[in-house]
Amino acid sequence: MEKSVNVYENLEFPVEQSGEERPYTFINMVSTIDGKILTGERGEPVQDLGSEVDHLLMRRIEEAADAVLIGSGSQRSSGGLWYPRNLVRIVATRSGNVLAESRFFKDAPEKAIVLCTKQSTLPARPDGVRVKRFEGDSVPWRDAMAWIRKELGVRKLLVEGGSDLNAQLLALDLIDELFLTLAPKVKLGANVPTYADGEPLPREKVQKYRLIELNRVGDEVFLRYRREWLD
Ligand SMILES: NC(=O)c1ccc[n+]([C@@H]2O[C@H](COP(=O)([O-])OP(=O)(O)OC[C@H]3O[C@@H](n4cnc5c(N)ncnc54)[C@H](OP(=O)(O)O)[C@@H]3O)[C@@H](O)[C@H]2O)c1
Repeated sequence: MEKSVNVYENLEFPVEQSGEERPYTFINMVSTIDGKILTGERGEPVQDLGSEVDHLLMRRIEEAADAVLIGSGSQRSSGGLWYPRNLVRIVATRSGNVLAESRFFKDAPEKAIVLCTKQSTLPARPDGVRVKRFEGDSVPWRDAMAWIRKELGVRKLLVEGGSDLNAQLLALDLIDELFLTLAPKVKLGANVPTYADGEPLPREKVQKYRLIELNRVGDEVFLRYRREWLD
């Protein structure tokens, strides 16, 4: 299958557009036609939503990134979550409730980073895992992005959800591109998470994107959008 899917093989990003203060940042998610990001409940794994092709393309997007960032809700929901060994993996938590005994940390502890606050209580974790604590009751994303860019040297940052984390970064205008796999499924449910939840933007602040790539494989569609002010 791998060779026959001619999508996202040589991904390039205009990294200079995001400046030196933060990484060029892109989200990748899969959703149903009705916009939901889960087949089950919030906090459950999501592997059954996208197809094998979606999983393959997710890996290609990961390979094009210097680092991946997730919220700890996503980490807790998928204990089997793993990344290519050389990929820096970052998880954000307020509570400190991260899965220390997971492949996320154990596969490459020296590539694993926890972003949290001075109050977060973290479990024992493998040697080498780096912890960055911030003042206040949440990770302040502008400061965290500057730290990721400068201290970690990350130029291309992939965000893989979930809904809560995505919404915060979008609301702060810290996202340059959105990848979306549209799975040919319908879930329904007013409280089922979507690509990004959070507080609604007022009409005059609704964000606009350009569709820069559109691919179809079978019944699935793979979309790539860029913030309109980046072109
Ligand atoms: N369809 C897809 O592509 C896709 C992708 C990813 C995830 N998912 C699904 O989405 C669900 C999880 O999404 P979610 O929205 O519930 O959670 P999430 O965004 O993954 O994580 C939320 C958690 O991240 C931490 N966090 C968020 N903002 C923070 C900040 N500013 N400072 C410090 N910590 C912060 C908090 O952790 P603490 O609670 O530890 O304080 C918060 O509870 C799962 O069921 C997962 O399977 C789907």
